[in-house]
Amino acid sequence: MDQKLKSKLEKKIFIKTFGCQMNEYDSNRMYDIANKIDYKKTNNFDEATCYLINTCHIREKATDKVYHDVGRIKKRFRNKKKPIVIIAGCVAQAEGEILLKKEKYIDAVIGPQSYHKLNETILRIEKKSEKVNSTEFNVIEKFDNLNNIKMSKNNISSFLTIQEGCDKFCKFCVVPYTRGPEYSRSVEEILNEAEGLVANGTVELTLLGQNVNAYNFKGKKLSDLIFEISKIKNLERIRYTTSHPLDFSDDLIKIHRDVKKLMPLIHLPVQSGSNKILDKMNRKHTVEEYLSIIKNLREANPLIKFSSDFIIGYPGENENDFNDTLKLIKEVQFINFYSFIYSPRPGTPAAKLKQIKENISKKRLIIFQRKASELKMIYRKKLFNSLSKVLFDNKLSGNNFFGRDEYLNSVIVKSNKNLLGKIKDVKIIKGNQNTLFGEIVDVNNKKDFAA
Ligand code: SAH
Ligand code: SF4
Ligand code: F3S
Repeated sequence: MDQKLKSKLEKKIFIKTFGCQMNEYDSNRMYDIANKIDYKKTNNFDEATCYLINTCHIREKATDKVYHDVGRIKKRFRNKKKPIVIIAGCVAQAEGEILLKKEKYIDAVIGPQSYHKLNETILRIEKKSEKVNSTEFNVIEKFDNLNNIKMSKNNISSFLTIQEGCDKFCKFCVVPYTRGPEYSRSVEEILNEAEGLVANGTVELTLLGQNVNAYNFKGKKLSDLIFEISKIKNLERIRYTTSHPLDFSDDLIKIHRDVKKLMPLIHLPVQSGSNKILDKMNRKHTVEEYLSIIKNLREANPLIKFSSDFIIGYPGENENDFNDTLKLIKEVQFINFYSFIYSPRPGTPAAKLKQIKENISKKRLIIFQRKASELKMIYRKKLFNSLSKVLFDNKLSGNNFFGRDEYLNSVIVKSNKNLLGKIKDVKIIKGNQNTLFGEIVDVNNKKDFAA
């Protein structure tokens, strides 16, 4: 075989993704980019000729995980040709230079705002075996480049990054340092990408941003964008994440009343139920202000429900503060909870504060998670025997189909017909913390249900 053709056939890239949905979006885009220089995606780590780890720095041990993973690659490829090893994402941004110095097996580090330079980086390594550090904040250049690269994935449910970075500087968080300042993509760029995805089979679109509701492109806000996107034919569902309470403006609340395609689940991180702790975190809002947003959203659309993030054991949190958080979750009746023990991040202001003892934080987390599961189960039991609208996006073994209802609950049903890409009425029969099980209902024969 011709040498050139042979090397083309052998180029395979494997990407391991950690962290948030934005990293997931970025990893898919990196597959698309690498495809331009003939790297084919592989799911088999052993056959990779380029191994990329897209990292997350939000909580502890992120850097240790990178060294551990690189160690594993080294071992597996001991008797084979060394693959190109690239560390991308937020750890690369925060600790790139140290990684390159400490672990010689790593060929390059690429920050989240520089990954449009992936191919240039790979080609430089292929040619000269040099070490490359790309950690500049080039967000405009990045999206200009990405707009010219076709999306290869045709998902039923797709992510679309509309906004990047953060200017809020919560005292515990690394994101403003790893993703850089807030930046919003143009409405035109986003609409083009959304239309392309829908033409390729996307039925549900989740708009992504570290501060998605801070979106502002020349005065066009998230509500304007949702309104424009909702006009796309064949797009059935719109979601957005993650919002900050401070940017929950009235126009965004109103759009939840007006746009039926907008799903009635809002992920709105609150972090703590104590005003003292919110202030120490620099969240810039109170519990009362948070509750007032919830109230206004429920007035705009009574079907809306909420999920949230919580940090347990933040410096200065006492029993009263913790109990305030427990009180808040009961009051709001969240349907899903993401809770984490506070993790001091290097370079952030809260890392320098007096830390809570680990055993206290751990105890509080257990109590929190127990209460959260109880609340979740009360909500879920109410779903039994009622109807949910489920979009199916995955076929499992044994004629089982997996989908999500309007509130992102996972639902599994059995069906002889292909349900992929379809939204169906499902009667929920049973379920646990993670999954609901149901059966498809004939829409013309719904009279048995109270729902
Ligand atoms: N932009 C979003 C959240 C981004 S990070 C917001 O403003 O809410 C996702 C979640 O990780 C946060 O909501 C927070 O709960 C958690 N998190 C961030 N930094 C953390 C830290 N240092 N320790 C523990 N949890 C943290
Ligand atoms: Fe981090 Fe706060 Fe910005 Fe969210 S708003 S990304 S928690 S700094
Ligand atoms: Fe993690 Fe970076 Fe996302 S730190 S949560 S991958 S923005």
